[in-house]
Amino acid sequence: MIKKSELYYPTEEFKKNAWVNDPKIYEEAGKDPVKFWEKLAQELFWFKPWKKGFLHKPPYFQWFVGGKINITSNIFERDWEARKNRIALIWEPEPISEESRIFTYAELFKEVCQCANYLKKIGVKKGDRVGIYLPMIPEAVMAMLACARIGAVHIVVFSAFSPDALRVRLQDTEAKVLITADGYYRGGKFIDLLKNAEDGIKETKVKKLVVAQRSGKTPWSFDSAQDKQEEKDFCKAAEMNSEDLQFILYTSGSTGKPKGCMHACGGYTVQSYWTGKWIFDFHENDIFWCTSDLGWVTGHTYTTYSPLLNGITTLMFEGAPNFPTPDRWAQIIEKHGVTVFYTAPTAIRMFESYGEDILKKYRFDKLRLLGSVGEPIDESAWLWYYKNIGKENCPIVDTWWQTETGGILITSLPGVGPFKPAFTGLPFPGVKAEVKDGNLLILPPFAPGLLRGIYKNPKKYLETYWSQYGKEAYFTSDGAIVDENGLIRIIGRVDDVIKVAGHRISTGEMEAAINEHPEITECAVIGVPDRIKGEAPIVFAVYNGAKLSEEIKKEIIGQIQKGIGPIALPKEVYLAEDLPKTRSGKIMRRVLKKLWAKEELGDLSTLANPESVDKIKKILYG
Ligand code: PRX
Repeated sequence: MIKKSELYYPTEEFKKNAWVNDPKIYEEAGKDPVKFWEKLAQELFWFKPWKKGFLHKPPYFQWFVGGKINITSNIFERDWEARKNRIALIWEPEPISEESRIFTYAELFKEVCQCANYLKKIGVKKGDRVGIYLPMIPEAVMAMLACARIGAVHIVVFSAFSPDALRVRLQDTEAKVLITADGYYRGGKFIDLLKNAEDGIKETKVKKLVVAQRSGKTPWSFDSAQDKQEEKDFCKAAEMNSEDLQFILYTSGSTGKPKGCMHACGGYTVQSYWTGKWIFDFHENDIFWCTSDLGWVTGHTYTTYSPLLNGITTLMFEGAPNFPTPDRWAQIIEKHGVTVFYTAPTAIRMFESYGEDILKKYRFDKLRLLGSVGEPIDESAWLWYYKNIGKENCPIVDTWWQTETGGILITSLPGVGPFKPAFTGLPFPGVKAEVKDGNLLILPPFAPGLLRGIYKNPKKYLETYWSQYGKEAYFTSDGAIVDENGLIRIIGRVDDVIKVAGHRISTGEMEAAINEHPEITECAVIGVPDRIKGEAPIVFAVYNGAKLSEEIKKEIIGQIQKGIGPIALPKEVYLAEDLPKTRSGKIMRRVLKKLWAKEELGDLSTLANPESVDKIKKILYG
């Protein structure tokens, strides 16, 4: 890259081959964003064209109204002759001794159709919700695409979420089928996922478990071998209305209950296709590795849908990036000739912490573009990534988006730039963003992939996104600043959501899980800075019982493990007699945060119990 003061630009060579290399695109898109998106949408295959590009009845909106589409037809039937023999998916298992599994587009299509036909056979119909609780194995991508093929709505649940977390999502969506697996490898251990799945479907409407066999010889346990032979290798795509549900994905908000973000078929397809094409500059021979688990939105859009819509190769890895050696991730990049690598700042800081020695044998010479996502990337991680992985040659696209937005909304385009460490960049062409009072807002016409609602909770949808700045501005819950070039820097969440290793966790949800413990009367969870994970949760719990403190702390951790899963485990648990509260009884988490950081506490006159502060000081500082 070319450096001009604190800004970086792509090399002439990169620019020459990039899909977009002229900043005029912003101007063109900005003149009439709806027209712009409509022009992009035309490159896709529609069963029936739309009548109206954008329909806005604030705060509700629709895109490509009246159109009919199927996302899988745009993967497997559009441009088919050119792509059918290309490699669609490379899967790298965690055990080094096992072989990678590789699927061409034609092979993947057959698998998807078989799975889709099987789902139909067991009674899954268009519009039905299907739970997917699968680890990082090819069957997870197949299951998602099979649902999409027949118009079923998938609800992917991160495989490290607990049975309780799975249950809440299955209950809310009333799914009748859950697709899961017997297990998976992580950190050298075989994790028994089926046990969790069987536990998680208790008290739900799930009547049928479909089980992928990670440990067996056949990938699926379709009812019997004979059944499988009878399955046909082709399944016709369901013709979906643009505004039909593509999928629901649960994410954490301020309150105890996760929210089911609803995504629409037409807009999601358009946005996932084009953001991948322009931001990761997907070209025919690209091998793209997005390290996110499929259970998060990043895995949905940039492991499954976007690369496959673009006809390139997507890579998925089953295990931990540092197992069995800290350079496992680097080995995978070299082994498969990854050209575009997309990961989270936490992973970058973890790689950095292992020291540069282990990287000496890696040249990363096929890499041409790097991406970052999920949490703010600090300047030093950015520079380390640029130098040690990108070899000062690869543009870095820091991409801002959310489960709600379906695809990337803010970033620098790789063939245009500029790239500035710690800044994400400009809104994607056709997207209007504004920073008001430090809050990041997205303005009409938003983006085709933005969520259409929260499943079964229209009130929450209005409250969370459309009440702070009126019905015409989408409130992101992120704080941001803008520099003199218009580049946006994301500061972090302004609500009770924390980003732990890039994972979105609600402190409210953690508190709800802890409060289930009969002996804990109240608690507060706050996020504190963490050198590798960016942020980490710590717990203050009120406990006045007789158990040993180590014992009760273990039980508190157990509550979190049970309610959410291991990703939310706290860095510390403190037991207190009392927590600082306002006169109306609200716990002052802000005060706890300051106490933890040893910052000035400011005005404490609103506290009902100021003496609690000294007691907490004693617990924290001794
Ligand atoms: O706070 C922002 C942060 O992640 C949040 C969204 O989390 P989630 O829905 O899990 O989606 C993650 C991946 C898209 C945002 O509200 N975030 C995401 N990307 C960035 C970021 N913060 C800073 N820089 C980013 N590039």
